Amino acid sequence: MYSLETIISLAKRRGFVFQSSEIYGGLNGCWDFGPLGVELLRNIKEQWWQEMTYRDEIVGVDAAILMHPRTWEASGHLAQFTDPMIDNKTSKQRYRADNLIEDFIDRLEKKKKSEEAKKIREQLESVENNEDYYRIIIENEIPDPVSASKDWTEVRNFNLMFKTFIGPVEAASNTVYLRPESAQGMFVNFKNVMESARQKIPFGIAQIGKAFRNEINTKNFLFRTREFEQMEMQFFIKPGTEKEWFDYWLNERVNWYIKLGISKEKIKIKEHQKLAHYANFASDIEFEFSFGFGEIEGIHSRTDFDLKSHQEFSGKKMEFVDTVNNERYIPYVVESSGGVTRSFMAFLCNAYSEEEVEGENAKLEKRTVLRFHKKLAPITAAVFPLVNKDGMPELAHKIYKDLQKAIPVQYDTSGAVGRRYRRQDEAGTPYCITIDGQTLQDDSVTIRDRDSMAQIRINSSQIADYIAKELNS
Ligand code: GAP
Repeated sequence: MYSLETIISLAKRRGFVFQSSEIYGGLNGCWDFGPLGVELLRNIKEQWWQEMTYRDEIVGVDAAILMHPRTWEASGHLAQFTDPMIDNKTSKQRYRADNLIEDFIDRLEKKKKSEEAKKIREQLESVENNEDYYRIIIENEIPDPVSASKDWTEVRNFNLMFKTFIGPVEAASNTVYLRPESAQGMFVNFKNVMESARQKIPFGIAQIGKAFRNEINTKNFLFRTREFEQMEMQFFIKPGTEKEWFDYWLNERVNWYIKLGISKEKIKIKEHQKLAHYANFASDIEFEFSFGFGEIEGIHSRTDFDLKSHQEFSGKKMEFVDTVNNERYIPYVVESSGGVTRSFMAFLCNAYSEEEVEGENAKLEKRTVLRFHKKLAPITAAVFPLVNKDGMPELAHKIYKDLQKAIPVQYDTSGAVGRRYRRQDEAGTPYCITIDGQTLQDDSVTIRDRDSMAQIRINSSQIADYIAKELNS
């Protein structure tokens, strides 16, 4: 498995991801997507959107990021969307208490102190409040990883929502929050959508959009950031049918990742032991990163918690009236909540590979290749003239311009053709088209496949059809 440093280095060098505001030293927990990154991101979102909304019973919305502050009272985020925070008095470093303990357990396990690690893990599993976290840290003499000091403050709750003010007056009454999940935009619009789209239970609402969390510790590249994007779907169902729909959506969502090239062995389903305030059961879909398995998507059975709560806080009915069976009820919800940016990282890590191949003069050379699924690859094809003379650039440029009408394509004339292949391999481009001496005679070109590196020859008039067929195979 390749280290995160290797992936981050390629991501920066090839323009997938840059540190946010890098020229000012960066802004912790925020990242910018470069020219290749933005294409990958768009492709992931497009594949998700097609998968989720190209069916009869799911429709989309795009709700505002800023919502009425009562939303967050009703959803429970104002009171409960907190992490336990602890500060080291010597280093002034701030940690999430649970992360501090987990990292300590990991270090013990690495040192083969498994009995001690097991004891602390059991303590962690039975934590009920902040005092319990504090007791574990003090009793086990957990040191600050930075300063080794064991001088800790008490554990306090830290609300993860970013606050700002609406309008010109910075008064408490004008406080609004950057949404910490896109889900609430779908719950508050439940009635609007059901009525306008003439939907009946069961049906779903899908949304892709930014979410913000003032995480205490950001870590592992795009894994835990303060600004990120989610792709979420709320499926409204009849109470009592939640187990069956939960199993259905869990299966659908796992298959989506596998269909888009994530290796089966790198996916794990983890059932939640500790449930969020809104859920009666939940599972995470995890991907194996170099630092271990980490959640990329959660499937949550949210009961009627959200709709009931919004009904109570807004005074507006959130019921479904079933005229066929002559009954009315507040629907239950099964949610699929994926991180676009976490999936981006999973797809990137999954695609990365280094191998030795035969290069120029039959010499072995290293090739770095991103084996993205064809539909996710940022650039679909690249076009090269073999040499920059004899009319080849003109022909190649025309083919490039024709292809550009339908797919993302690059034109490259610089360096030996082998080098140009390597550049495209590193970007994950599935097809490289070369215009050579034979093209001038019979209008045929070579198409080289990124993964097998095999080349076929076809007539230049067939390139667009060939690629379209390949993308849909
Ligand atoms: N609506 C439910 C919800 O938001 P969550 O488990 O808190 O549930 C869902 O988040 C997904 O959002 C996660 O599986 C992850 O992919 C992504 N996510 C959550 N926090 C994140 C963060 N700080 N940075 C990047 N992605 C995050």
